[in-house]
Amino acid sequence: MLSKAALRLVSAVSPRRMKLLLGLALLAYAASVWGNFVSMRSIQENGELKFESKIEEIIEPLREKIRDLEKSFTQKYPPVKFLSEKDRKRILITGGAGFVGSHLTDKLMMDGHEVTVVDNFFTGRKRNVEHWIGHENFELINHDVVEPLYIEVDQIYHLASPASPPNYMYNPIKTLKTNTIGTLNMLGLAKRVGARLLLASTSEVYGDPEVHPQTEDYWGHVNPIGPRACYDEGKRVAETMCYAYMKQEGVEVRVARIFNTFGPRMHMNDGRVVSNFILQALQGEPLTVYGSGTQTRAFQYVSDLVNGLVALMNSNVSSPVNLGNPEEHTILEFAQLIKSLVGSGSEIQYLSEAQDDPQKRKPDIKKAKLMLGWEPVVPLEEGLNKAIHYFRKELEYQANNQYIPKPKPARIKKGRTRHN
Ligand SMILES: NC(=O)c1ccc[n+]([C@@H]2O[C@H](COP(=O)([O-])OP(=O)(O)OC[C@H]3O[C@@H](n4cnc5c(N)ncnc54)[C@H](O)[C@@H]3O)[C@@H](O)[C@H]2O)c1
Repeated sequence: MLSKAALRLVSAVSPRRMKLLLGLALLAYAASVWGNFVSMRSIQENGELKFESKIEEIIEPLREKIRDLEKSFTQKYPPVKFLSEKDRKRILITGGAGFVGSHLTDKLMMDGHEVTVVDNFFTGRKRNVEHWIGHENFELINHDVVEPLYIEVDQIYHLASPASPPNYMYNPIKTLKTNTIGTLNMLGLAKRVGARLLLASTSEVYGDPEVHPQTEDYWGHVNPIGPRACYDEGKRVAETMCYAYMKQEGVEVRVARIFNTFGPRMHMNDGRVVSNFILQALQGEPLTVYGSGTQTRAFQYVSDLVNGLVALMNSNVSSPVNLGNPEEHTILEFAQLIKSLVGSGSEIQYLSEAQDDPQKRKPDIKKAKLMLGWEPVVPLEEGLNKAIHYFRKELEYQANNQYIPKPKPARIKKGRTRHN
């Protein structure tokens, strides 16, 4: 039926109309193909857009993380002066991660020198110099000075040695080796590379002095077999070695006889009077004074000492020089001042007087004034405030790490404690 109708329709259409119909059909087909193509394109474009925005969503947080990482890597160092090649020195600091050594590192780095710190981290900490790690002028070497060291330097500040009684008495043989073999090794290095060496000696070479204040030409009063001899005699023989190398080998030496020093990065529980009082005041414990508290002590702030060490190294003074603060204060004055600076309600507790507790300890610094133009300038209160701030931060840090240091009793001599 249907095919007959179709045949009739076709036979009724002339060839011309047929062509027209065919053309129309072709046009309709082409239009439909184009339509499909256009709609497929737009689907594809939408897909691409969606895909791109999805990628963007994933990448953005990664970019953020990279930006954060970059920020943490581009560490901000303290400002460093530019020194020309001829003024810039290659400086080795043994014991440079310790209390004094780390402040000396700061000064020499900021002055624009190249500094190599060598330390075995017995009493020093990486944290003391971590702000320089990665700086192009700085290098930190984990090394024990009892072993030889082969590097090229122009100056050597030889500070490596435990300095406080509990630390140097902890292993007396090691203290002796550090001060004797260690000093020989550093003098040998100085000789080999033609460097100048400064020895961090100590007021302890005067021992229990019979002369007040102590001048550099006083030979001292040291017990060679007492508990402190490992340090006192170790430093005395270190001085002897310096002058033997100077006379025999022509090595340029400088000897600083350092008196009591305090400041940030000092050891919190070394049993010394300043650290004990600050710790006791901050922890709300009684400040322990041995005897009446009228005995006097003199402390220099660490930046004064560092300036003195640098002035001595760069001077032409090869004989020993005292570096200390001659301003005396009674132990009681220290206790009251620290209590008020901390704002502590701690009471002052008087304990029985310690045997052999020296009544006076004071450097004579005329030589340093005259020959180096050096004298301490930081007022006691200003220095104490900085030390208190440091101790407070350390206590917070250590509390977060579950470690609370306790002040040690003052050092023991002949079975009794006494102030350092
Ligand atoms: N701080 C003072 O009041 C004072 C007083 C007189 C003399 N000094 C002298 O100044 C120097 C520095 O004293 P400080 O108060 O900074 O003491 P510190 O203990 O903080 O520093 C000494 C540094 O020497 C390092 N050290 C010890 N033995 C070593 C070894 N065998 N090899 C390599 N490194 C070693 C320690 O790890 C530490 O970093 C010492 O030589 C000390 O005798 C200090």
